[in-house]
Amino acid sequence: MGIDRARVTIFDTTLRDGEQSPGCSMNQQEKLRLAQQLDRLGVDVIEAGFPIASDGDFESVKAIAETVRRPIIAGLARACRPDIERAWEALQHAARPRIHVFLATSDIHLQYKLRITRDQCVAQAREAILLAKSLCDDVEFSPEDATRTDPDFLCRVLDAVVEAGATTLNIPDTVGYTVPSEFGELIAMIRRCVKGIEKVTISAHCHNDLGLAVANALAAVSAGARQVECTINGIGERAGNASLEEIVMAMRVRPDRYRYETGVESQQLFASSQMLSEITGVPVQPNKAITGRNAFAHEAGIHQDGVLKNPLTYEIMTPKSVGVPDSKLVLGKHSGRHALSIRCEQLGYTFDRRALDDMYRRFVRLADKIKHVEDHHLLELIRDTHKPTMSATPLIEPVVDATQAAVVSAPPMDATTMATDTDPFGVPLPVQSESHHEQTQQEDYLWGV
Ligand code: KIV
Ligand code: ZN
Repeated sequence: MGIDRARVTIFDTTLRDGEQSPGCSMNQQEKLRLAQQLDRLGVDVIEAGFPIASDGDFESVKAIAETVRRPIIAGLARACRPDIERAWEALQHAARPRIHVFLATSDIHLQYKLRITRDQCVAQAREAILLAKSLCDDVEFSPEDATRTDPDFLCRVLDAVVEAGATTLNIPDTVGYTVPSEFGELIAMIRRCVKGIEKVTISAHCHNDLGLAVANALAAVSAGARQVECTINGIGERAGNASLEEIVMAMRVRPDRYRYETGVESQQLFASSQMLSEITGVPVQPNKAITGRNAFAHEAGIHQDGVLKNPLTYEIMTPKSVGVPDSKLVLGKHSGRHALSIRCEQLGYTFDRRALDDMYRRFVRLADKIKHVEDHHLLELIRDTHKPTMSATPLIEPVVDATQAAVVSAPPMDATTMATDTDPFGVPLPVQSESHHEQTQQEDYLWGV
């Protein structure tokens, strides 16, 4: 019997909020290419841009609306006629258009930025939604800076826009100020207090200034939000938005805690992340969850040993499930004999235990000097261990008892043809490791280190 899971709408704003992050602007062709990838990824809504912002943005939104037909295509507009009409002009040929109207509601924004009163704010929000609704059935409203807005006033604005026809209420934590428990309570309060709330979808839009964007978005979902706004690689204003890949995989890996499903094809996550990075030239941080190059890399010997025996020891999801080609063993000073022997085997060399111990001692000394031991280093090490008198490289120190090391089975050695470059992630793990090394428990421990 399948588990009943509520569906959460994934609203991708990589092309709008994401594009607002420094160094991430994209031209029309690039935006269209990424929108097509977002379509393959299976997001429900693509916020394609802010049409009034520039002619380029207008043309990009229009091109995406006319080309990408499955998802809803949204365009952003401030709560005023020129913005809303321009957004509609760009969106009108979309198969499923949405106008997304925003207006700040916190006193700090009303007083210093907009210079309007609360009453004027309510009236402006209502009129903007009525106008948007006269053009398009699907209208989203965002009270900007909602998490620093007086809750009673927030409900007053939300009552007005629901009455005017908004179909999605998006609650932005514009400045990344809230924390999960508080944001969950805010969503619950909105569900309790806003009139007509049962007719609309509640959405969460979280920024990452305190590193809590994903946690806040998940708290909102647990409290009843059914749309999350997020970006690939978490790009966005300042510290960024909630990362799409992290939200989706949290729900997929922990269905016991998050009984929700999305339409995202998780195997497309890595390709989407790579495409964005390639287009913007902004690299993904190596330790980025899900899509960073270290997300499935293992360097510590104990971890490598565990992963070789069973990936479940140190991996909570398979690399394949997010489209990463394979787990990686990175050979460095924390690596153990097990990973070293596997890599030697992959390069065509099998050592008995004694020879491996000797290799391992040399390997650790080398790894202390250089950060990553690549295949060509390893091949030199193998050659040097096998023929100690020929040791030529200043990097590798011969050991006194090297002559006792024995290569059990070695193919003809040709360091130049064998020295294939290690891929950028390190060394691929074999599908199954059948160790030929018999060990006692004590040796088994050493095997891991
Ligand atoms: O962060 C924010 O408040 C926004 C709104 C326009 C939704 O991006
Ligand atoms: Zn935002």
